[in-house]
Amino acid sequence: MTSPHPSTAQTGQGHGASPTAGLVVLISGRGSNLQAIIDAIRAGELPAEIRAVISSEPGAPGAARARAAGIPTQTVNYRDFTMREQFDRALMASIDVHRPRLVVLAGFMRILGKPFIDHYAGRLINIHPSLLPEFSGLNTHARALQSGASRHGASVHFVTHEVDGGPVILQASVPVLPGDSPELLAERVLQEERRIYPRAIRWFIDGRLSVEDGRVLLDGEQRPEQGLVRV
Ligand code: GAR
Repeated sequence: MTSPHPSTAQTGQGHGASPTAGLVVLISGRGSNLQAIIDAIRAGELPAEIRAVISSEPGAPGAARARAAGIPTQTVNYRDFTMREQFDRALMASIDVHRPRLVVLAGFMRILGKPFIDHYAGRLINIHPSLLPEFSGLNTHARALQSGASRHGASVHFVTHEVDGGPVILQASVPVLPGDSPELLAERVLQEERRIYPRAIRWFIDGRLSVEDGRVLLDGEQRPEQGLVRV
């Protein structure tokens, strides 16, 4: 798979002088990562404004969280479209009216097509519940337990054409403990997700990220605070 990023790409800059970055957040369910972003903005830790939350699922609990925070919500139900390309186009139209600097996938469980990913290249990020490149795809916690891994975690990454394969911005790991179930492990990982996603978004907004040869650099180099498990 090829990356939509050039070998060297500056990201998070050049989209206007406003210090408050416009975000659109895409969800499919619970929205606890969305809540962490809302909370970080409220706490003054993230100079951003969530202009819209768009859900692929009607009745997603995350949409109620957004409404409670006064954020406009919309549902683009993938079942209303016969082809994925049509769903992607409708989603793009819904996103682009808000002119976001960054599109944030937060528990968004649909696979996006090439035109969509190309359209948002360098300004589309995702959080995945594993230490990528380990355990891309679904059921990551159960698979980590089955594998006998001693550590597991979460990764924030730029989205490219390879599912869960884009350059990793930030990772956090947790121990796998005796007696863990997928649910217990998921909750431990989620606590880290809620910590690292606002942080990665902040780095993007502050223009501190660049991508070089498929690696994400922070202030021009790979830095320890990115927590990268394999570089
Ligand atoms: C999170 O664990 C997120 O990493 C995962 O879904 C959960 C959403 O939780 N995302 C994926 O698996 C994407 N492939 P949330 O709705 O409470 O934020």
